Amino acid sequence: MEATPLAPDADSSRTQFWVKRWERGKLPWDLGHVPPDLISFLDRHRAEPLDVLIPGCGSAYEVRAFHAAGHDVMAIDFSGPAVAHAREILGGLGDKVVQGNFFKHDFGDRRFGLVYERGFLCSLPPARWPEYVARISSLLAPGGLLMGLFLYGEEPEPPPYPLNDTLAAELLGPHFHLRTSQAAAADTVPVYQGMERWQEWLKGEAPDTTR
Ligand SMILES: C[S@@+](CC[C@H](N)C(=O)[O-])C[C@H]1O[C@@H](n2cnc3c(N)ncnc32)[C@H](O)[C@@H]1O
Repeated sequence: MEATPLAPDADSSRTQFWVKRWERGKLPWDLGHVPPDLISFLDRHRAEPLDVLIPGCGSAYEVRAFHAAGHDVMAIDFSGPAVAHAREILGGLGDKVVQGNFFKHDFGDRRFGLVYERGFLCSLPPARWPEYVARISSLLAPGGLLMGLFLYGEEPEPPPYPLNDTLAAELLGPHFHLRTSQAAAADTVPVYQGMERWQEWLKGEAPDTTR
């Protein structure tokens, strides 16, 4: 996970990188609807309402799905055009979307039971990944869940920056244990095709089943 210096306009950790794409409508990651894996998760888990955070939310289709399932959801993106687009899509739920930098936003005392991932981790240069994990870990309540669609494989021209099993274990293993991992439903965008896995990482160590 070496930090490779990036030219400013190739550095996907910068707001301008993303604003440019939103302004040009160049959104190859945008699915246009809620991923089917999230719909089936919400159908299967009708437990108590959770505080849900969606970092790097883009169009934020998922806000409506979490809200409809009874959860209190907040989405955040630092690109102004992304936030405007999401608010337009969400109508009356538009105030669930905040414009801000996930790494700098003041969340106050709010701690989340669930952080939803799709297309955010892989949008960040790997040098930022430890910061992502530390931030999510600190925003999750004890026993909280980091879940969603994670990108695995090879990408000759990143972003996206996919994970592999070794990196995922190094990065997330010290803070989370992997409860579920399966190939995503086939319904995705061409740039993520065959690379997405639905994963559920629970904060904390795996329960000791030997006792
Ligand atoms: C590849 S898009 C994915 C959007 C969305 N999650 C989806 O699945 O369609 C990545 C998004 O993350 C946003 N983003 C990148 N870094 C961010 C940061 N530090 N804070 C907030 N948003 C960020 C970008 O503006 C962009 O909209």
